[in-house]
Amino acid sequence: YYSQVKFSISAPDISHLGPDEGIEIAFAGRSNAGKSSALNKLTRQKGLARTSKTPGRTQLINVFTLDETRRLVDLPGYGFAQVPLEVKKKWQKSLGEYLQKRESIKGLVVLMDIRHPFKDLDQELIHWAVAADLPVLALLTKADKLKSGKRKEQLLMTREAAMAFCGDVTVEVFSSLNGIGLDQLQGKLDEWFGL
Ligand code: GTP
Ligand code: MG
Repeated sequence: YYSQVKFSISAPDISHLGPDEGIEIAFAGRSNAGKSSALNKLTRQKGLARTSKTPGRTQLINVFTLDETRRLVDLPGYGFAQVPLEVKKKWQKSLGEYLQKRESIKGLVVLMDIRHPFKDLDQELIHWAVAADLPVLALLTKADKLKSGKRKEQLLMTREAAMAFCGDVTVEVFSSLNGIGLDQLQGKLDEWFGL
C-alpha cells in the first residue's frame, strides 16, 4: 500500500502546507538519522525522499500523500552543528511550528541512530510529544550497523529509558538497508492511519 505514496510539496513553513485536515504522520530526528532513507524503504521508492551523506540535506517540510486523507511528512533534521546559525534557526522554527500548530498530525516517528539514541534534542522532542498526547514511535535506525546481540541490548536499554517518558512511546529497531523493523514500522503507521 505504501508503495503508492507520491511526493506532494516541499514547504519552507507551515503556511505553505495544504489544508490541515485528514491524518498526517511525521518523521523527525537528528540530521543524518535516516529519516529520508526510512521513507524510501517504506514506500519501496529509492528516490522519493532525497538522502545524503551530508547532514542537513532535508531543510524543508516535505509532504508525501498516500491517499486523499493520509499523508507522510519528512521534517528537517535537527542538531547538526556545521550549518550556518541563520539557516538552523529558520528550519528549527519551521519544525517547531509544524509540531505545535498542525492539527492533523496523529503520530510522530522519531528516528535515532541505534548507536546513540536519546540525545538531548530527541528527548526534548519526545517530552513535548507526550505532553501534547501525540503517540510516538521511536525508531532505532541503522540497526544493520550492530550485531544481533548488541542490537537487542540497545533495544532493551532504549525501551527501558523510554518508560521514563510516561506516554505512548513505542521503541523498535530499523534498517533501511536490510529491512529490519519494516513490518513494525508499517504496523504502527497502519494503526495511526486507521488502515
Ligand atoms: P537529513 O535530511 O539531513 O536530516 O538526514 P536524514 O535523517 O534524512 O538521513 P538520510 O536518510 O539522508 O541518511 C543519512 C545517511 O545515512 C545516508 O548516507 C544513508 O545512506 C545512511 N543511512 C540511512 N539509513 C541507513 C541504514 O538503515 N543503514 C545504514 N547502514 N545506513 C543508513
Ligand atoms: Mg532527509
